[in-house]
Amino acid sequence: MKVFVAGGAGYIGSFIVKALGEKGYDILVYDNLSTGHAWAVLYGELIRGDLNDNKTLEDVFSCFKPDAVIHMAASIVVPESVKYPLKYYRNNVINSINLMETCEKFNVKKFVFSSSAAVYGIPRVNPVEEDMALNPINPYGYTKLMVEKILQDLPIQHVCLRYFNVAGADEKRRIGQVVKDATHLITRCVRTALGKYRCLEIYGNDYDTDDGTCIRDYIHVEDLAQAHVLALDYLMDGGNSNVFNCGYGHGYSVLEVVNKTKEVMNINFPTKFKERREGDPPVLIADSKKIRKMLHFKPQHDDLEFIIRTAGNWEKKVWEEKLF
Ligand code: UFG
Repeated sequence: MKVFVAGGAGYIGSFIVKALGEKGYDILVYDNLSTGHAWAVLYGELIRGDLNDNKTLEDVFSCFKPDAVIHMAASIVVPESVKYPLKYYRNNVINSINLMETCEKFNVKKFVFSSSAAVYGIPRVNPVEEDMALNPINPYGYTKLMVEKILQDLPIQHVCLRYFNVAGADEKRRIGQVVKDATHLITRCVRTALGKYRCLEIYGNDYDTDDGTCIRDYIHVEDLAQAHVLALDYLMDGGNSNVFNCGYGHGYSVLEVVNKTKEVMNINFPTKFKERREGDPPVLIADSKKIRKMLHFKPQHDDLEFIIRTAGNWEKKVWEEKLF
């Protein structure tokens, strides 16, 4: 099967390409390399291109003739989306429309879309089920919800995967996240442990949780990649359009992540409590029953220690080899 992977040179995309490649899919990665890297594409062919470039998109579709599309090319930093909403609506919504138009033109009817737990906003209850209220609290979340809605109106069989907190890296240190200014908790923790930052700031310790810090459902990037392969197989087997949470169904507080990082990396580092970060839901945990039941999702790395260890080992390489 031929799969067109938009954004396949980025952090999550490169793991999806690896998972597809290991299963023998014929892959074409389309990526503008704004945050991705050519070296991260371990399988298939890479075409450097932008989703705003309809001509190149059409040329690529006409040569490659994909059976299915996986779309995860997007801007993903929540605070940046608040600062530059139009950049997000353009990159994430308009460019998705271009891709969907190209699918329509070339009769590609299977589409896996990378959505986000950000579509739920601040959920009323946790774990969050897929049919709960969708109330994003930032432009990033709205862009993901809009694309989900647009897909519903099209005669395209699609699966929207709502990612919770993705982290970790390849155990063999071939691929992982490369960012200069990290915002994500696990990356910031391991960088602080490695001495790259002086102190880990904890945004808020007065939340209504056991230790007062926010709780998230951290999923290893390889399990998330596996969810995409399952979603694709589901569509190829004639599965109806659907939406699935991608998380493990339980969470860890910021303090638990900090303490686990100190333990796994065997280093103590300073922390400081700061003001709450705007737009942070206190708790965000996936109800993962649906994906486990319908897609037979069986996580292999539901283990915070493994997630942090692989993130830490990868981060060492990022700095040693100055990958950013
Ligand atoms: N945090 C800190 N200190 C830091 C970094 C983060 O205390 O230095 C806290 C945050 O305030 C939050 C938690 O750690 O409570 C997790 O924060 P992240 O930035 O790692 O992740 P988010 O939960 O904010 O967001 C992530 C993705 C979004 C996605 C969301 C869905 O970045 O794209 O998960 O769950 F929408």
